[in-house]
Amino acid sequence: MTTLMEATTVCRNYINGEWVESKATKIVERRNPANTDDVVARVPLSTRQETKQAIVAAKAALPGWRETPAPARGNILFKAARLMEEQKDELARLLTREEGKALKDALGEVQRSINIIEFMAGEARRLTGETLPSELPKNFSYTIRRPVGVVGVITPWNFPVAIPVWKIAPALVCGNTVVFKPATLTPLTATRLVQIFEQAGLPAGVLNLVTGAGKDVGDEIVTNPHVQAVSFTGSNAVGAELYATGAAGMKKIQCEMGGKNPLVILADADLQLAMESALFGAFASTGQRCTATSRVIIEEAVADKWVAMLVERATQFVVGDGLEPGVEMGPSVDENQMKTVLRCIEAGKKEAELKCGGERLTGARYDKGWFVAPTVFDHVRADSTIAQEEIFGPALSVIRVKNFDEALEAANSVRYGLASSIYTTDSNKIFEFVEKSEAGMVHVNSPTVGGEAHVPFGGTKATSVGPKEVGRSALDFYSELKIVYIDYTGRKRESSIY
Ligand code: UN1
Repeated sequence: MTTLMEATTVCRNYINGEWVESKATKIVERRNPANTDDVVARVPLSTRQETKQAIVAAKAALPGWRETPAPARGNILFKAARLMEEQKDELARLLTREEGKALKDALGEVQRSINIIEFMAGEARRLTGETLPSELPKNFSYTIRRPVGVVGVITPWNFPVAIPVWKIAPALVCGNTVVFKPATLTPLTATRLVQIFEQAGLPAGVLNLVTGAGKDVGDEIVTNPHVQAVSFTGSNAVGAELYATGAAGMKKIQCEMGGKNPLVILADADLQLAMESALFGAFASTGQRCTATSRVIIEEAVADKWVAMLVERATQFVVGDGLEPGVEMGPSVDENQMKTVLRCIEAGKKEAELKCGGERLTGARYDKGWFVAPTVFDHVRADSTIAQEEIFGPALSVIRVKNFDEALEAANSVRYGLASSIYTTDSNKIFEFVEKSEAGMVHVNSPTVGGEAHVPFGGTKATSVGPKEVGRSALDFYSELKIVYIDYTGRKRESSIY
């Protein structure tokens, strides 16, 4: 083990175009969550001083990058997309080894990241404003998009390629420079990602990477006066603090946080389709996504039949090392996360009827990792803890209701509002659900998870703060409108009204 540890390189920070060794006194190991003998990376908990250096570098690079024509900025992103395509398999395998998700999900995540970079690269040619007529003769006005400045990007471990990409790509296209703090659980994937941008030709200082803890690196980013905006994805606890701290410094803040996403099944639905979607939404990526399906809300008339179908399939769900062929679900990301999930499950056992799973998996295949069995609870009350709190693990609660109105009420009865889904063939109910569901993203006969590269992503209620991410709406966070008035009368104004 010691030899393996020593052989594993310590991650470096990327500051002003150089890969620099951190002076951190604390270095933590990142082990493969499916096989803890495998040390994936050693990650320094960098200091505030190092974070400040990255911010200074980003500030110094800003004028040059801002003045680089937007299509030229876009061309670097096109190059990054091509490089990522070439390295797709390798990057996906690393993602699985470091984060744990099944290889097919990791490949999907990398492909989605390529799509996002390509889309954003194209947007570089469309950073348009508006021209507006004036109330006065021989006058007009127009708007232009300007970068915000130095942007902090703070990202979680569960989508260690896609989430950084969907923040960094629009930030760069808009002409901002970036200080990127990835999750300490996925430092090597973040390093590879930054290397891709470096190989694509990004000038020194435009994108900087600092590994480390939220309390030092993250806090420096959020409090440093030279950082103008911070985009964060992670827990509500951290997001709330970050939002308050950033607001005190008058920064633009975007937070994407928890979810408790409902999938409603009405009696007339295609039950098989709804079952496959719930299974995928609840257990793929080990339920470690903010869009995970964590509540099924089903009409009583079909509940017994549907739950039996689900449990049969859930118990056959193939759990294991995500690099093994055929595996559908990997481990929890680390021991802490597994313990949190198991604690939630224990609470659930007191509140509802456990139908399958409910424990850590054991045996030769599982003993070196953090595996939890796909878990289903039935007869869950909509107001119980497992139906209200985000679990971030493979646990699904089934809530039985009498009719559509009760389903809608239960669906909306949580503080979060990220994604929701309805399975039915009744078009009136579909439109009513779309209208009344308190979620940022509503799916009809489609799973709660996922999203496309050019389509906005984000929630409402306690889930989100700031403009939606991804798609064109991402540009609204990473750019600011400048409004220009032109008067070509050559005369002074007659009236003060205008
Ligand atoms: C997805 O559902 O594919 O942290 C993406 C998360 C979300 C991303 C989910 N921000 O899980």
